[in-house]
Amino acid sequence: MEKAQSMKRASKAAANWRLILAVVIIVVIVLFVLGIVIGYFIGLGQSENDAVKAALSDADPTVADRIIDEMSSEEIGKNLRYLTSIPHLAGTPADKEQADYIVQTWLEQGIEHAEAVPYNVLLSYPSDEEGKENKVQILEANTPDNIIHESALKEKVLDPTQDHPDVVPPFNAYSAQGEEQGDVVYANYARVEDFFYLERDRNMVLNGTIIIARYGKIFRGDKVSNAMAVGAKGIILYSDPKDVAPAGQPRYPDGIYLPETGVQRGSTFKDAMDPLTPGYPATAFAYRIDDNEAALPKIPVHPISYADAKEILRRMQGVEVLPEWKGALDGVTYRYGPTIRDDDNTIAKVKIIVHSRNERRTTYNTIGLIRGKVEPDRYVILGNHRDAWGFGAIDPTSGTATLLEVTRVFGKLLKDGWRPRRTIVFCTWGAEEYGLIGSNEWVEENMKNLVSRGVAYVNVDSPLMGVHRLSAGATPNLKQIIYAAAKTIPDAYPEGSRKTMYDTWTMRDKSAGTDEPSVSDLGSGSDYASFLHRMGMSAIDMRYHWDDTQYDFSIYPMYHSVYETYHLVETYYDPEFKYLQAMARLWAEIGRRLADLLIIPMDARDYGSRIKTMFEHFKDSESGQKIRNRGLSMDRFEDAVDTFNEATQSFHNEVTDVNKQDPMEIRRINDKLMMLERGFIDPLGLPGRVLTRHVIFAPSSKDMYASAGFPGLVDAMFDIDNSSDPTKQWREVEREIAVITHHLYSAATTLTDEITSLTRTEL
Ligand SMILES: *[C@@H]1O[C@H](CO)[C@@H](O)[C@H](O)[C@H]1NC(C)=O
Ligand SMILES: *[C@@H]1O[C@H](CO)[C@@H](O)[C@H](O)[C@H]1NC(C)=O
Ligand SMILES: [Zn+2]
Repeated sequence: MEKAQSMKRASKAAANWRLILAVVIIVVIVLFVLGIVIGYFIGLGQSENDAVKAALSDADPTVADRIIDEMSSEEIGKNLRYLTSIPHLAGTPADKEQADYIVQTWLEQGIEHAEAVPYNVLLSYPSDEEGKENKVQILEANTPDNIIHESALKEKVLDPTQDHPDVVPPFNAYSAQGEEQGDVVYANYARVEDFFYLERDRNMVLNGTIIIARYGKIFRGDKVSNAMAVGAKGIILYSDPKDVAPAGQPRYPDGIYLPETGVQRGSTFKDAMDPLTPGYPATAFAYRIDDNEAALPKIPVHPISYADAKEILRRMQGVEVLPEWKGALDGVTYRYGPTIRDDDNTIAKVKIIVHSRNERRTTYNTIGLIRGKVEPDRYVILGNHRDAWGFGAIDPTSGTATLLEVTRVFGKLLKDGWRPRRTIVFCTWGAEEYGLIGSNEWVEENMKNLVSRGVAYVNVDSPLMGVHRLSAGATPNLKQIIYAAAKTIPDAYPEGSRKTMYDTWTMRDKSAGTDEPSVSDLGSGSDYASFLHRMGMSAIDMRYHWDDTQYDFSIYPMYHSVYETYHLVETYYDPEFKYLQAMARLWAEIGRRLADLLIIPMDARDYGSRIKTMFEHFKDSESGQKIRNRGLSMDRFEDAVDTFNEATQSFHNEVTDVNKQDPMEIRRINDKLMMLERGFIDPLGLPGRVLTRHVIFAPSSKDMYASAGFPGLVDAMFDIDNSSDPTKQWREVEREIAVITHHLYSAATTLTDEITSLTRTEL
């Protein structure tokens, strides 16, 4: 009983206890679920706020200091030493090897999605068969077996660091095969005006001759096509000491000037693409035109040293050349030709022998990226080419070594929690030397994305062309960002009032004739070309330059020779890699600003004023005069220039007044900044150049290296007084004026929100 009662009580107490426990459990569960639900909604609000906050937040300026602090000159030196230890010509095993190395390094550095991207493209190589070497000979005319002189098959070994079995002998890529012999004519730089002078002023017959011309002033491919245009059978190129080795200056290996055995290699293809897949990427399924349909030289071309050129030039007969045509070869009286005689006065001929082959090979780009935090679909692209004619210590590997340090620092920032607003893409291009091939194929393959999402392309090819001062080319809207960034970068060797890179630049570059250093228009000759001229992406190209007040060279002396070695850079150019460090900082800082600033740092006003200046210049030029004399009006052209200029001014006010609390307004402004350049793309292309489509800036059709403003118009006006069909050519001038006028008006409308016509009301 006692027990029973107590058991009863106990069971009653247990029941109560269970009830309480159940209630507590239910309450806990309800609270827990409620907590989750409330937490979910609070969290949702929170993440909404975070997204808006991120979209509205501007870049953290302290990252700029981190970039400067982290950038290591030693690391750049190590990169350069490794990458220049072997020759790395496009399409050879070293091309793939170095692409893989860069992808691996990027992944270790923390770069996201690094990959090597292959393209199968048409390249060109000398024959490696014995007896099929490319060369130039001087022969006795009557007994051609009697060879008076033959050009060297290789550049002489002058120091052990250039001695490697994989060095390709001097050649000009894409030369036609053939053996041609004949009289020889000296054509100075083989520019159009040089040939005009020979034919029109000197009445020389050039058809059937062999041309000898010096490198410099214009792209070598244009020299070849100019020689073809006058009917030459072949062309020999050489570097004259006047352009690469001033008297009394030490030559490699004792200095930076080209020794008499050095030869500039280089491509003669006049376009920016794989020659077999114009307009489309060189993928596995691509349609390829036949080799003989490709726009390649139809005559043999071969480069020789000035020691070999001297043997030809000193034997040439004919009238002595104009003073400005003279080179600086000792003991040579420069003459036009066409006759050539041996020392004993017997008549001789010059023979050019080329057995190079065009071959399909695979080349590789490497693409790595850091995904943007707020706008992952906006791309800021930093690129450099990787292929070289030899060791490439200046061209381009001083740039590749620099890019690898830029990515190391960005990788480190990423690990420390930083992430840019927009995506940054890093690229090393293959087969640039052959015709800007890797970058062009990539642009073609990714055009659909890039055309609506690409912000800007920042190119560094050969940063160590000199060490005197910065030199930059850019679309006008990017001039200010170069100035602004250069003002924050310590000079490589600061001295007195030259504290920043900008200080030295302004002090040493007076060519703009203003207080600001000059930023030139972009011609071609490096990988920005397809970005800008094909798809209309704003671009920058940068390097250090030699002192051009002292030496009036077209290019640094050792360009494309076997002597472009690590030894050259480490001994003479940048022993402490301080210039490359400064370039790495500048490149990274420009990339950071473009990718991370709330408002894209582009200034449309500079585009407006640059076009205005170009127009004034054109109007006052001889061509402008001829157009007026013809009775053609440029009033609407001028009105369009002014309309565009004014539109950029008022748009700039919108940029300054942007409501920084409105994410959509920020995106609207940024889209207009990003897309402005696209306004100058004519889908039909320039006359005769369907794939070069920028109506304001394009490479000059007479010199691919130079920039032509209003290229279609300039081409239409070319040599118009001697036109074979003046009526037709003047119609083309009218057409070009209308095309440019239209593009200026329509580019102006892209800066407003309305879709309006600026011109229709008058009809
Ligand atoms: C050169 O001469 C050949 C035949 O003599 C002729 O067919 C050709 O059109 C000429 N070329 C030029 C550019 O004058
Ligand atoms: C046109 O050609 C003639 C000779 O054919 C020459 O004398 C003249 O200078 C040329 N004109 C121009 C503008 O080049
Ligand atoms: Zn290069």
